[in-house]
Amino acid sequence: MALLAIKDLHVGLESGEKIVKGISLEVNANEVHAVMGPNGSGKSTLAYSLMGHPAYEITDGKILLDGTDIADLGADERAQLGMFLAFQYPHAVPGVTVANFLRTSVNAIRKAKNGGEDDPIKIPDFRKQLATEMDRLKVPKDMMGRYLNEGFSGGEKKRVEILQMAMLQPRMAILDETDSGLDIDALKIVAEGVRELVGPTMGAVVITHYQRILDYVKPDYVHVFVDGTIVESGGPELAEKLENDGYDSFLKG
Ligand SMILES: Nc1ncnc2c1ncn2[C@@H]1O[C@H](COP(=O)(O)OP(=O)(O)OP(=O)(O)O)[C@@H](O)[C@H]1O
Ligand SMILES: [Mg+2]
Repeated sequence: MALLAIKDLHVGLESGEKIVKGISLEVNANEVHAVMGPNGSGKSTLAYSLMGHPAYEITDGKILLDGTDIADLGADERAQLGMFLAFQYPHAVPGVTVANFLRTSVNAIRKAKNGGEDDPIKIPDFRKQLATEMDRLKVPKDMMGRYLNEGFSGGEKKRVEILQMAMLQPRMAILDETDSGLDIDALKIVAEGVRELVGPTMGAVVITHYQRILDYVKPDYVHVFVDGTIVESGGPELAEKLENDGYDSFLKG
């Protein structure tokens, strides 16, 4: 059984406009799938709909996580089952520090795993895990006391998204253009962090426009996403072909 199985998924806007038009995709643990496609083709819409964003309506199809259909669940329930989305445009949450946010998120997942009973992580354990992950991802210590994403640079927001992923240890991570805004050094650190976390208990979908992150993430599969559907799938060589030739040959005339 695939870790994540998307079956003939159709997603529309509240206006009724269809954006995702029949996606089928299986992602296993230990696998990284890259999704590449032109602006406005529906990649973020797919990502949001996998996570349960209320603005996007699933009109047909299934999303199975470990065999459970999550398509009708709320975003919090999906997170508890192990879905994680790193946003293309992370929102600021004034009044909530990064440290508090991370601890609350970790505890919410632990509570769900403990059958709904509170099971808060011990503060020293949390600090230790946080220090390890911050070190690995080179996130400056002083960011922990700042309000989440408030005044953060583009690259700082993206690093904190990945720090969140590392702390929550999801089953399935969807990364929506996490590479955009990262400088070359941060890109390498973040991409290698993703590759290290992907393993026997985790798989990932990496949405990107650029080959560079894929050089470090080393995807197992690459999918070309055009106008709401996957038009071609292949190995890493497909990303190189796209980098050289663009999407022309995939666009309808
Ligand atoms: N909430 C919304 N309201 C109105 N239109 C929307 C909404 N969300 C998405 N769209 C439209 O759906 C289409 C797909 O958008 P989406 O953000 O999924 O594209 P994308 O493939 O992620 O593009 P990019 O590469 O630029 O990030 C676009 O035409 C966009 O304007
Ligand atoms: Mg997008």
